Amino acid sequence: MSSAYDPIARLYDPWSASVVEDVSFYVEEALSAGGELVELGVGTGRIAIPTALAGANVIGVDSSREMLAVCAEHARAAGVEQRLDLRLGDLRRPPVDERVPLVTCPFRAYLHLRDDAERLEALAAARRLLRPGGRLVFDVFAPSREDVEETDGRWIEREPGIDERADWDLEAQTLTLSVRGRQGASTMTLWWLEPERWHSLLAEAGFAVEGCYGWFDRRPYSGGEDTVWVAVRK
Ligand SMILES: C[S@@+](CC[C@H](N)C(=O)[O-])C[C@H]1O[C@@H](n2cnc3c(N)ncnc32)[C@H](O)[C@@H]1O
Repeated sequence: MSSAYDPIARLYDPWSASVVEDVSFYVEEALSAGGELVELGVGTGRIAIPTALAGANVIGVDSSREMLAVCAEHARAAGVEQRLDLRLGDLRRPPVDERVPLVTCPFRAYLHLRDDAERLEALAAARRLLRPGGRLVFDVFAPSREDVEETDGRWIEREPGIDERADWDLEAQTLTLSVRGRQGASTMTLWWLEPERWHSLLAEAGFAVEGCYGWFDRRPYSGGEDTVWVAVRK
């Protein structure tokens, strides 16, 4: 299994250094679910490590061996390796037999799914991991026209020494995202959807939408780029 994240596993943390707004939201969700969860697309543990430090047990699935290696290092450094069970695998077929009250998929990892068949496969897989009444919590985005116009095709310094370039295709609804820095470089594709489509897919996969927020402070969604979803297994 190879991943577009493998070459940037050492760049990922400095690249996402300013993304902090979602951490306390996901930690709260983990604790209010009783502290047992599966995180799909766990990455380097940006969210999983604080979640484990707060006392939760996390099964973390990711298709990038290198991201998981960095995550394991962070877990050891934080002294939470006993609370983090890291597994290499695809989030559409997670290597998890356990059943949990909470499945999360933070920071837009579902946007790596290219079409409705893949999305429904992933949502069905998340549903299978949940105990009855359990919750799937994730966030995604759909860009604004201003964001597209401002960034399209331009290298922009996102963090000191780390450049990012977004190539948007409004018709195909794809973002080809490139990043380069001292620790690595990569290009990956993300496929976005309007919130209404996520709503329909969740219903089709057997979820009831309990919350669709516009930000991690749980303000109701009222337009904008980000959506944060809390969906209950029916
Ligand atoms: C944007 S990162 C998010 C990482 C972490 N959850 C965070 O919030 O920082 C997306 C992660 O999803 C993983 N990923 C992408 N597609 C995947 C798939 N099909 N199965 C498992 N993991 C996947 C990537 O390897 C990457 O680590």
